[in-house]
Amino acid sequence: MSHKATATCGTTIRPATSGDIDAIVDLCEEFNAYIAGITGRSTRAANRSALAGNVERGLQDPGKLFLVADQAGRVCGYITGGVVGSLGQIGIVMVTASARRTGLGRGLLDAVEAWLSQRGCTRIELVGILPENPTVGFYRRHGYVLHGGTMKKDLRATGQQSISGLQER
Ligand SMILES: CC(C)(COP(=O)(O)OP(=O)(O)OC[C@H]1O[C@@H](n2cnc3c(N)ncnc32)[C@H](O)[C@@H]1OP(=O)(O)O)[C@@H](O)C(=O)NCCC(=O)NCCS
Repeated sequence: MSHKATATCGTTIRPATSGDIDAIVDLCEEFNAYIAGITGRSTRAANRSALAGNVERGLQDPGKLFLVADQAGRVCGYITGGVVGSLGQIGIVMVTASARRTGLGRGLLDAVEAWLSQRGCTRIELVGILPENPTVGFYRRHGYVLHGGTMKKDLRATGQQSISGLQER
């Protein structure tokens, strides 16, 4: 796979491998705790082996993209993507709290968008984002609009002003 790009100094965005599963499971647990902090409800904690099984299946699925942000061998973030017809989907983007606001989230998102675009996707939607999640702002910064209970982006548009047919509502 040709998805190798430097997001920021010393960081590589690369496809995840089975050697990353433990680190990704750590990030999944951090993500679950983060969401529980927003909703005030603790999600039924999936155990580590169940999370690892999910990640492993995702890695083996040829229709999915699973990327990690690697800082000198330390996995600090990941993102998942997939294709349904001409619709691109983004599952989770997660950057560990200590590495945020340094460009890793943008690097991961750019890489997934490029992969989806190469596969003919014209629109991208997020698979489940809570409108109360403050990171809605991160997606807005990258041209996504809240639409029909999720966030979407039209890849044919060049900027948020010219998003064709997608108005925030
Ligand atoms: C969302 C998340 C991945 C962003 O990662 P990050 O590495 O901090 O983002 P970046 O440093 O690449 O930021 C890119 C741009 O988005 C902006 N941004 C980042 N987080 C933001 C937020 N919460 N609100 C508004 N803007 C934000 C940055 O300021 C930056 O703007 P710039 O282009 O003007 O410099 C990270 O906050 C995270 O993991 N959050 C918890 C998990 C989550 O909620 N994921 C989304 C739902 S699946």
